[in-house]
Amino acid sequence: MRKPLLAGNWKMYTTVQEAKELASAVVGAAAKVSGRDVMIAPPYTALAAVGSVLAGSSGVLLGAQNVHWEEEGAFTGEISAAMLRDVGCAMAIVGHSERRHVFGETDFMINSRIKGGLQSGLIPVFCIGETLKQREAGNTLKVLEDQVRAGLAGVEVTDGSRLVVAYEPVWAIGTGKTATEAQAQEVHAFIRSLLADMYEKNIAAGIRILYGGSVKPENIDILMQQDDIDGALVGGAALKAESFERIICFQKTAY
Ligand code: PGA
Repeated sequence: MRKPLLAGNWKMYTTVQEAKELASAVVGAAAKVSGRDVMIAPPYTALAAVGSVLAGSSGVLLGAQNVHWEEEGAFTGEISAAMLRDVGCAMAIVGHSERRHVFGETDFMINSRIKGGLQSGLIPVFCIGETLKQREAGNTLKVLEDQVRAGLAGVEVTDGSRLVVAYEPVWAIGTGKTATEAQAQEVHAFIRSLLADMYEKNIAAGIRILYGGSVKPENIDILMQQDDIDGALVGGAALKAESFERIICFQKTAY
């Protein structure tokens, strides 16, 4: 019912040439499997070039690492959904923990970005996650609930496939520490119940919830076996063609 989504977040890495080469390798890898979506999010400077590599029948989706809510205007340093659509983007990551914690993005900004993206036909990949301090204080579910309710306030979803949520515990991003599959499943099930409270049950059932935070070839299979884990948002391991290929080609015994 929910098509798995394997998404690569390239962050602030790759020249245009490196991006084109990596994108070609991802196209080759994605052609080896079916029944799953693959998305890559290069830096803005490489979007157009990677868009050309993916154009046509590659089946690999192009994503941006953020999106502004206005179509155009005096917003130095920002990029609009219309501009992203223009170079072939289908998705945009919103609310990544680095945007929240390094650049001070607020729930209000994230909510606006989600609305702007949706309005222009982009699928937002809405990231949420607790810090280590919040987890240790026993506040994980409360923090996530606040982030979900604030990020999606006033956001209408009539088709679950038009929204993706990514659960990325901040303590697991780029640290080599992964949540156990049981920890991740528990949180994913909670997020889905929250979505079912906010939207109709069948819509919540169609929203993909990705796990992110040190996803690698060694842990993708076990993560994907969990009922409410519908894919992965991958940072470091998405920058190497072989490891991202292994992630795309995950094995799940039954779905
Ligand atoms: P990581 O990053 O896979 O390197 O931990 C994930 C992310 O930031 O989306």
